[in-house]
Amino acid sequence: MAGKTEITDMELMAKAKEAMAQAYAPYSKFQVGAALLAENGQIFSGCNVENASYGGTICAERTAVVKAVSEGVREFRKIAIAASSGEYASPCGICRQVLFEFMPDGTVLLDSEKEGMKSFSVRELLPFGFGPEDLR
Ligand code: THU
Repeated sequence: MAGKTEITDMELMAKAKEAMAQAYAPYSKFQVGAALLAENGQIFSGCNVENASYGGTICAERTAVVKAVSEGVREFRKIAIAASSGEYASPCGICRQVLFEFMPDGTVLLDSEKEGMKSFSVRELLPFGFGPEDLR
């Protein structure tokens, strides 16, 4: 049996772009897609889902994490994020906290059509983060 090959960053980003097509963003018109790579190799996609009560909006990153956790998967390695603007879409504060909860040692990949992919650690996006370890 052929060994399982690890998905590349480019492939994960391609899945984030694919997920963007499902975005529900009638208010901002800013479509976002995410592809979350779990430790077990599974990939969960997500898109932003907006709401007429704007604060009810769910970002693409959180959609992907919540889909995975609700399916019993809680450990993640990497998340790729793509936006319809073609520019880097930096995760919001709430999403950074959610990523820290489940992948404090994980990586965030962002993409710009002009400048290419950039990689960040979750810890650098949320310095001195507060997480589950702090509540033990
Ligand atoms: N958004 C995301 O889904 N992820 C990000 O990283 C940046 C922002 C969404 C929220 C809202 O639906 C729209 O993009 C504009 O902020």
